[in-house]
Amino acid sequence: MKQRRRIYEGKAKILYEGPEPGTLIQFFKDDATAFNAKKHDVIEGKGVLNNRISEHIFTRLGALGIPTHFIKRLNMREQLIREVEIIPIEVVVRNVAAGSIAKRLGLEEGTVLPRSIIEFYYKNDELDDPMVSEEHITAFGWANPQEIDDMMAMSIRINDFLSGMFIGIGIQLVDFKIEFGRLFENDTMRVVLADEISPDSCRLWDVNSQEKLDKDRFRRDLGGLVEAYTEVARRLGILNEND
Ligand code: C5P
Repeated sequence: MKQRRRIYEGKAKILYEGPEPGTLIQFFKDDATAFNAKKHDVIEGKGVLNNRISEHIFTRLGALGIPTHFIKRLNMREQLIREVEIIPIEVVVRNVAAGSIAKRLGLEEGTVLPRSIIEFYYKNDELDDPMVSEEHITAFGWANPQEIDDMMAMSIRINDFLSGMFIGIGIQLVDFKIEFGRLFENDTMRVVLADEISPDSCRLWDVNSQEKLDKDRFRRDLGGLVEAYTEVARRLGILNEND
């Protein structure tokens, strides 16, 4: 691989400097982590699948008019993206109780929520990404009220679109996490969808069997993660039958 300057290395991805100013290369690793990296493994093939699945989702969202950092996929593991200033907030959208909300509020996993719920978490590994409210976000200056509005409006549209897209292929979108960034262009700034959307960052349940097709297979030691992600990709129509 050509020597490139590494800008940032996260748990599942690396960012390298891109070919043009204002661009970066996002590399998808095979590393799987959970519980804030207390659990770690390397699952061969995961990065390739997430690259393809995230490309597909970002392309579909872009076509819908949701601004994103995505430019194009370069190869099996890399995407060309626009450089953004990441807003240090993880936005979680939930349709069905699972994971931390089930635990926190004593809800049975699988309970359909009265309506979709948006939550904010402060991106900070040392603090284990604590849940925060709009009050905290604006008081500490992590994002301003307009940016919060933009993130919420896009999150609702993304949830509506992805829920429909997945239901069409027999998958229930239980919840997902997204991140946003500030894109500076011609003296203007706008908030765009960044990072990735993949089975690493979503809960995806098969509608008929209720089988988990997401990273809970790793978190809960269920095995079969690559097979599950491959099934998601296959149903999205981005793999050939014999891939
Ligand atoms: O653990 P929790 O139930 O709060 O996760 C909600 C959703 O956000 C899940 O789909 C999970 O995969 C995703 N998530 C993530 N990265 C985090 C925390 C949660 O992708 N750091």
